[in-house]
Amino acid sequence: MCGIVGYIGFREAWPIVLKGLKRLEYRGYDSAGIALLNKGDLNIYKKAGKVKELEQYAEGKDLDGTVAMGHTRWATHGAPSDRNSHPHTSNSGKLSIIHNGIIENYATIKEELLSRGHQFTSETDTEVLIHLVEEIYNNHDIDLFEAVRLALNEVNGAYAIVIMDKEQPDQLIVARKGSPMVIGVGKGEYFIASDATPIVEYTNNVIYLNDNEIALIKRDDLTVKRLDNVIQTPYVQELELKLEMLEKGGFEHFMLKEIYEQPRSIKDCMRGRIYPEEGKVQLGGIKDYADKLKNIDRIIIVACGTSWHAGLVGEYLIEEYARIPVEVEYASEFRYRNPIITEKDIVIAISQSGETADTMAAIEMAKEKGATIFGVCNVVGASIPRITHAGVYTHAGPEIGVASTKAFTAQVTVLTLMAFYMAQQKGTISSSKLRELLTELDCIPEKIQDALKSNELIKTISAKFKDSSNCLFLGRGYGFPVALEGALKLKEISYIHAEGYPAAEMKHGPIALIDEEMPVIFIATKNSSYEKVISNIQEVKARKGVVIAIVTEGDVEVKRMADYCIEIPESQEAFLPLLATIPLQLLSYHIAVMRGCNVDQPRNLAKSVTVE
Ligand code: F6R
Repeated sequence: MCGIVGYIGFREAWPIVLKGLKRLEYRGYDSAGIALLNKGDLNIYKKAGKVKELEQYAEGKDLDGTVAMGHTRWATHGAPSDRNSHPHTSNSGKLSIIHNGIIENYATIKEELLSRGHQFTSETDTEVLIHLVEEIYNNHDIDLFEAVRLALNEVNGAYAIVIMDKEQPDQLIVARKGSPMVIGVGKGEYFIASDATPIVEYTNNVIYLNDNEIALIKRDDLTVKRLDNVIQTPYVQELELKLEMLEKGGFEHFMLKEIYEQPRSIKDCMRGRIYPEEGKVQLGGIKDYADKLKNIDRIIIVACGTSWHAGLVGEYLIEEYARIPVEVEYASEFRYRNPIITEKDIVIAISQSGETADTMAAIEMAKEKGATIFGVCNVVGASIPRITHAGVYTHAGPEIGVASTKAFTAQVTVLTLMAFYMAQQKGTISSSKLRELLTELDCIPEKIQDALKSNELIKTISAKFKDSSNCLFLGRGYGFPVALEGALKLKEISYIHAEGYPAAEMKHGPIALIDEEMPVIFIATKNSSYEKVISNIQEVKARKGVVIAIVTEGDVEVKRMADYCIEIPESQEAFLPLLATIPLQLLSYHIAVMRGCNVDQPRNLAKSVTVE
């Protein structure tokens, strides 16, 4: 939520920052701006709309300069407008700031500053912070670095900030608390960004700033302190990210590329973790807790959105194979009630971005109550993996499309591995059964490749339903979380109202919606609930609903009833979510494209939700 980029060095800064903003646009895209130090001036260019609009707006202007910082916004305080776009400036106009996060006590500070004659030009909390910094700077005999540190000690909330001073053009000041900040280390230059994607093109050496740290960055020098004024030694690490992972690679959209990447991403996720011939799973990230797993009372899974759907799959898998009771909680609800958590509980926090504010708060709360926290994250080095006790990365590679696709299937894969690992530790699964399951799991990437072959058929079906205004997704057992995920995908990128339901629940309400206009998508693969789902399909057909069914290859029975069928390869029931999700991703993708929607950047959404 909101992307930050900065550069200080010897190269032209504008193109670096602009390109960086394009890479970070998935984090927020309702306005963008850049501050550039140019021949003694602090020039600010900002515009409501996409980064492209900012680029056009600045065309033909003098954009020379080797220090710049930019911001792409997802509005929280103040509507998207030129005025509310970042960067913001201080009262004198000499200092400028970009900010990702929320300053919770900004209203009180603003009132005080107004009474002292400050004038504000925006409705943002960010502008208040830079005015506060200037007020402290002007009223004390201290340098700007110290003034920023003191100001940050007065604010509550989450932030990643960069501050620039027109009168000290050879430095940038950055700080973070609860929002990510990466510093790329070059020779005579530094790069700053919310994640490593704008940096990887220039250097592989990065420093992940920790919470409550503030850094003074000069071309050849970096000083890092904690907010309590203790000097820190920054730890430089090497990035695993590759530039080509951030390109569309010939696909029309990132979302489509990411859907097609799933055979590879799932293979990467399993690499070095499964040993089908030996019937063994190894998860280095949680191995220190192998003994604890034998005696735990309960697992609580916390997550939001698509990751929560993956959590539901995890619940079914862990209960079925490891026989440990599991509860799946929306992080946003969990954090605000007073749940019963003990030291014998394990909390699994699932998050693609590793930054989701509600999931982070749920982790902190569970940690305080003594639980052990495992993370399941995709972004290496993000905030969540840094606050959990242990965890397993999904290794899906960067997911740029705002709607989660390959990250979801990778999360489900990790949870499958966790379930098997726990079962192995607890002895609730025989080694022959585990061997059989792992042998099949090993084939899933190939089977996904087969499932992707239905793309043309799905396109044809999509054309028939692109003008629908409602859609119902139904499934039972492992098909239920798939139905929820299918509905979420369709609504978030095509803006068609869609609901996911357990198929049997239909008759307790949603059945009233069914008429000849209502497409109903069934997960009707051959598994333990096959016959029951067939009855549900008949109930829909009896009310003239239109049925699209995801079926197992070679199915005959559902094909007789459904209006359209999409086949997926046969597999073990536990792996149904990995296969049945693929056609639903393609369906929502094609429908959204046909409706003219921006599938990679759906309206009002952002990739990482760093505000609650
Ligand atoms: C939907 C989607 C969101 C995220 C949710 C949690 O396609 O991507 O629902 O799943 O915002 O995000 P993470 O997984 O980053 O915590």
